[in-house]
Amino acid sequence: MADESEAQPYILVVDDNEQNRALARATLELEDYAVELAKNGEEGLRAFTERTPDCVLLDVRMPVMDGFETCRRMRALPGGADVPIIFLTASRDVDTFDRAQSCGADDFVTKPVQPTEMVLRVQAAMKVRRLDATNKEYFELVRRQRDDLMRLQLQKERLSSFVVHDLKNPVSSIDLLAQLLQRDKKLPAEARGTADAIRVEVASLLRLILNLLDINKSEEGQLAVAIAPLDVPALAASVLETTQVRARAKEIELTSDLGGVEVLAADRDLIRRVLENLLENALRYAPNGSRVSLSTMAHADEIELRVADQGKGVPENMRDGIFERFVQLDSGDRTAPRTGRGLGLTFCRLVVEAHGGRIYVEDAAPGAVFCIRLPRRE
Ligand SMILES: Nc1ncnc2c1ncn2[C@@H]1O[C@H](COP(=O)(O)OP(=O)(O)OP(=O)(O)O)[C@@H](O)[C@H]1O
Ligand SMILES: [Mg+2]
Repeated sequence: MADESEAQPYILVVDDNEQNRALARATLELEDYAVELAKNGEEGLRAFTERTPDCVLLDVRMPVMDGFETCRRMRALPGGADVPIIFLTASRDVDTFDRAQSCGADDFVTKPVQPTEMVLRVQAAMKVRRLDATNKEYFELVRRQRDDLMRLQLQKERLSSFVVHDLKNPVSSIDLLAQLLQRDKKLPAEARGTADAIRVEVASLLRLILNLLDINKSEEGQLAVAIAPLDVPALAASVLETTQVRARAKEIELTSDLGGVEVLAADRDLIRRVLENLLENALRYAPNGSRVSLSTMAHADEIELRVADQGKGVPENMRDGIFERFVQLDSGDRTAPRTGRGLGLTFCRLVVEAHGGRIYVEDAAPGAVFCIRLPRRE
């Protein structure tokens, strides 16, 4: 509830997206705020002049006049210097943050915004305006620290997404070049072996880069899943073929049993990479000379894909935990280098869940079986 010791606080929401406006109105009216909506900066300024709001929620990208310009002009209006202005933006980047700061924003919230968070930010912004001088000083100090942290965080995100994006293309080119070498009939056997080895390492690096990219996308709600009929035996054959070199290096026998499942409605590229991650894990965590299998099974409402190995398996208390980001079990072998980053299974779970399915690990006694259940879509 809004503070009852005062008149009903009045919030101005400026956003060009109709859904966002409706959501903001519904959320704020539930808390007993009076709400005025504006579709762009110009309308926002008009509303502001008619009645000075107690708080403004301002979108950044809008036609006619964007949020930055609107904020600057609001600050210059009578009473405008003191009104809390909160930016709501889908652009989570340092430049947007800096511009919002420099035109006088009080707060910066990245979309999608949860209704409770919206209310809390509005309440906090209005409370701050009522603080006495000493408390205001403390608050400003904390706020500066918060803004510095936010800025650092955004910079870090930008750096890592640059690194990941910029790595993808050169690494793919290295793979193409290694393929060219493999095709050269005059190449001595030893050099051919080196080209094979390059491709194995590159595949592993690409897997890591793409996992990271998609985990980030999914966190931003932007992992697009393109569902289409997928030929399961063909996909399995092609995934097994690309994994074969790695299996041979460890003398692991790769087998498949694709009984009864022909077609699945799913995103081909994403499911392929899920299988690649699971097979790579099986090969990595299973001993030399063992067997790894990929099998499929049709159930009444679901299709099941299983990747089984004969390694140490996953202890029962870790069977949920290993799907979390960066979680890796201690191999116990301190001499072995720590390979991988603990992102493979996180990626697998995001993809499977985005398909409305589930992924879990069972005991193969000995070994692990990773099971994926995807809903049948007729
Ligand atoms: N088949 C398996 N057998 C035993 N342990 C496994 C198996 N698959 C995964 N694990 C355990 O789960 C952890 C998480 O796996 P995940 O694929 O997410 O990361 P990773 O393989 O360590 O690194 P990467 O990000 O390169 O995939 C692994 O570090 C390993 O300890
Ligand atoms: Mg892995």
